[in-house]
Amino acid sequence: MEFPIINLEKLNGEDRPSILDKIKDACENWGFFEVLNHGIEPEFLDNVEKLTKQHYKKCMEQRFKEQVATKGLNAVVTEVTDVDWESTFFLRHLPISNIADLPDLTDDYKSVMKQFASKLEKLAELLLDLLCENLSLPKGYLKNAFHGSNGPTFGTKVSNYPPCPKPDLIKGLRAHTDAGGIILLFQDDKVSGLQLLKDGAWVDVPPLRHSIVVNIGDQLEVITNGKYKSVLHRVVAQPEGEGRMSLASFYNPGSDAVIFPAPSLVEKEAAEKNQIYPKFVFEDYMKLYAGLKFQAKEPRFEAMKANDIDVKLGPIATV
Ligand SMILES: [Fe+2]
Repeated sequence: MEFPIINLEKLNGEDRPSILDKIKDACENWGFFEVLNHGIEPEFLDNVEKLTKQHYKKCMEQRFKEQVATKGLNAVVTEVTDVDWESTFFLRHLPISNIADLPDLTDDYKSVMKQFASKLEKLAELLLDLLCENLSLPKGYLKNAFHGSNGPTFGTKVSNYPPCPKPDLIKGLRAHTDAGGIILLFQDDKVSGLQLLKDGAWVDVPPLRHSIVVNIGDQLEVITNGKYKSVLHRVVAQPEGEGRMSLASFYNPGSDAVIFPAPSLVEKEAAEKNQIYPKFVFEDYMKLYAGLKFQAKEPRFEAMKANDIDVKLGPIATV
């Protein structure tokens, strides 16, 4: 099976059923897919890439090299399990933007990243509605499920993975599943490195010019009661070259959103066997995830199950 690459160009035309089918198959079998002709202009993405790479060179590269030297990462001889070979910063867009507070971003870069966020937010909501259609959920169901009192949480992690002398010993980013809802990744069009775990083997997510990679987070696994699953992925840094850029945008529930399986997706058989995912406040899940990101997700779901009753008795569940 080939990694799913889906062209959205004729989504509103005669190809809609086949596009929806491809997305359904990708959600059920991969937890990942890559979209082309998603409506974000190629020239705009080129500009985002150019400014991100410029910013890394000007403001981040030296800091990264100093950190590597301080931690002695160039000279490791055994596998490193507590640190990643990546240089990052985080732009929060919703509910309240932090872009104005980031001191070393140029005004041009700030303005472009604000536009980038609003374009990706729209794309995320379009994709969520396509998922609703495939799941026979009402339009807007997933967006509403993420809403909480203040709307979704939306942010972009800007990452660079510089050349790494020991990629077998230090991962660019250690294997994990994403905690949130739906994740949209704009990645380097030349340098590969992102891999997902499929049937026990690591599979490359191919770099593709102007594409957006989409993946399912833990919250969609809960809401679909496991019909769609978040999938382990990692970044392997390259030993040589220019390094890899990636911008991962997380469309997540609001902090007080109560997450639980959509009742129409809990089959009778699953209910009888008590194979139902837990109900919890998203913020509580994130507190747990913060310490356990690089561990398996199942114990996280189990821990939230143990707290299930608190949510049912809590004030948020009654509104
Ligand atoms: Fe991730």
